[in-house]
Amino acid sequence: MRILGIESSCDETAAAVVENGGSILSSAISSQITTHAKYGGVVPELASREHLRAIVPVVTLALEQSGTRLEDLGAIAVTQGPGLVGSLLVGITYAKALALIHDLPLIGVNHIEGHIHAVASQNPVEYPALALVVSGGHTHLYEVLQGFRYRLLGKTRDDAAGEAFDKVAKLLGFGYPGGPVIDMLAPLGHPEAVRFSLVKMKGNTLDFSFSGLKTAVLRWFEARDMADEVAARKALLRDVARPSVEQWLMVTPRTTLDLLASFQATVIEELLKRALRSAEEIDARSMIISGGVACNSGLRLAAQSKRLGVPVYFPAPGLSTDNAAMIAAAAFPKFARGEFADWSLKAQANLALA
Ligand code: KG4
Ligand code: ZN
Repeated sequence: MRILGIESSCDETAAAVVENGGSILSSAISSQITTHAKYGGVVPELASREHLRAIVPVVTLALEQSGTRLEDLGAIAVTQGPGLVGSLLVGITYAKALALIHDLPLIGVNHIEGHIHAVASQNPVEYPALALVVSGGHTHLYEVLQGFRYRLLGKTRDDAAGEAFDKVAKLLGFGYPGGPVIDMLAPLGHPEAVRFSLVKMKGNTLDFSFSGLKTAVLRWFEARDMADEVAARKALLRDVARPSVEQWLMVTPRTTLDLLASFQATVIEELLKRALRSAEEIDARSMIISGGVACNSGLRLAAQSKRLGVPVYFPAPGLSTDNAAMIAAAAFPKFARGEFADWSLKAQANLALA
């Protein structure tokens, strides 16, 4: 049984065909990073326009690469939210049109559930599992029970972890998105050079907060004269879309590398500390770490070496950042349960998973 997944919640237009919930036959992604990079973040109006441009070719490519005709499909799955409403609408409208014309069932999928299935559909995850979904829009901890029922244990009260990476990178002139650049340069700095304090949460102690860390980086920045190096990095970015480590090192002194290393180490510590505590609280049998920030090599290394007590699973390359294979995979159990959407399916910018 093949499901066509469509994802357009943020700045990637994606389509994929997945067989029986786990076998990825194709996964096409059209990224808008170059469109948004010069603005230092995603511009919603531009995102909708780019989705409109890309949706038909991306879906066509996913069908072709998997050797699937629309009439071979069992269902069409589409991201319903959370995300940018104008972006979500493009995917939803196209999915509805295809489903209507080809008389296929339509399945609405929560984007966060997609990130969880990016891992759960490819690994021998045992339940209950603790899921840490950490991306540009979310930093959430969920208990995942057998049958894919979810309980929210904690979430960020301000910025998402990926957002913190992006804002720090923007401040220091490293461009957008910030995560991959900081990930690449952090190993070259000393992670204990700058001492950032860890957050003590009042109320739900499994909640996250990254605004204090962001402000601490801003204070560090303001206390130094960094105008020249920031200008040099911006000039580099104007010449080279994706500079290499060597090119960054020409315009990034040791102290800045130390700052990046210390910032990243603090984010990782905040994430894993709460993930570990949540896993203990629910007696988890495994842990899932997913979302764009799950690409981070420092986070992967720390999660493997911390002896978290349970197996930890990360997404395979290509499934960490936004994609449609995870949406098609998440739709499979819904298909089995007969959870279909009707034509009233709406984009929901703040759709909650639990
Ligand atoms: O899941 P995703 O593609 O989109 C959202 O749903 O937000 O995640 C994008 C986020 C961005 O904030 C980006 O900076 C971050 O994931 N990211 C990383 C890395 N690669 C992407 N953060 C840290 N380290 C990385 N290697
Ligand atoms: Zn995402």
